[in-house]
Amino acid sequence: MKKIALTGIKPTGIPHIGNYLGAIQPALKLSETCEARYFIADYHALNATKDPVALRSMTLEIAAAWLACGLDPDKVLFYRQSDVPETFELLTILLAFTPKGLMNRAHAYKAMLQSNNETGKDPDDGVNMGLFSYPVLMAADILLFDTDLVPVGNDQFQHVEMAVDIAQSFNHIYSNQALRLPEPLSQPDSKTVVGLDGRKMSKSYGNIIPLFAPQKKLRKTVMKIVTNSQEIEEPKDPDSCSVFSLYKCFATQDEIAALQGRYIAGGMGWGEAKQELFLAMNRTLAPLRQRYEELMQNPDYIHQVLREGAAKARPLAAEKIRQLRQIIGID
Ligand code: ADP
Ligand code: TRP
Repeated sequence: MKKIALTGIKPTGIPHIGNYLGAIQPALKLSETCEARYFIADYHALNATKDPVALRSMTLEIAAAWLACGLDPDKVLFYRQSDVPETFELLTILLAFTPKGLMNRAHAYKAMLQSNNETGKDPDDGVNMGLFSYPVLMAADILLFDTDLVPVGNDQFQHVEMAVDIAQSFNHIYSNQALRLPEPLSQPDSKTVVGLDGRKMSKSYGNIIPLFAPQKKLRKTVMKIVTNSQEIEEPKDPDSCSVFSLYKCFATQDEIAALQGRYIAGGMGWGEAKQELFLAMNRTLAPLRQRYEELMQNPDYIHQVLREGAAKARPLAAEKIRQLRQIIGID
């Protein structure tokens, strides 16, 4: 029996190269060996985004991004969280098994609390119940589909561990194993992609290279990568350079060795190194960009894919809810 891998993708912000190399590509690779269920977590995004136009278009863009990167909806169950209402029934069930103290410890909530304290605001300022119980909705997403593995970034580990705690509490109370215990699956640190300023690429740092930027814009963005002020003739250190670090993500072994040689030998300016990076990146990204643009021309197709995904997901979800209702005595 194949293991079940599930992950949620929040429709916030435009996808960048860090998302592609750190999340999309590994998840697609995992789908070759697991039964994969990947969904767009639109109700999670509602906590932060109250703009209906933006939420709608971001949902479409994120779906197009995954399809453009190679997600095959015949192989991966691909759906929108909001199209599987069983999720929200399970959320209600799980709330009764979630100690408030567990939620008090959740990182996102704690960070908000701390920032309110530091700025002298009321501790509850800006904290809605969606943010407070965010990990329970995430647990519902995961536990609804008997998930074994949850590929996520390190920042989401705690949430998956909370899903395990909640499931264990349920199983313990009813002396059964009705809820399967999931395991978080991380990417090695070496997969952290650097941004334009040398820090981790992240939309919150404003240092991203967009995954589907048109060719000209991509080149312009690559040229903005921060380097030092060494002259052309000087030998350069590839290992401390963001340009080289990004190059390694896109070039072949031979190309990497060749550029490394040119760094060490000196005589190559930063503009030239960046041009090499642009060419390698564009080679990988051009076909994805083209597919993305085609998909965005055809939103009806994207909606249809998501609807078909939901139609396949709902019977699985309904069966799970039926079992759980029987266990709790609401049947
Ligand atoms: P951001 O930091 O831009 O807000 P998210 O937190 O939405 O990105 O990340 C979505 C997914 O992409 C996560 O699985 C995360 O681990 C991965 N990811 C984001 N940035 C990077 C990066 N710089 N390198 C590797 N993976 C990344
Ligand atoms: N919370 C995740 C994030 O911020 C998104 C998410 C929602 C998720 N539900 C999930 C991830 C279930 C894994 C499993 O990125």
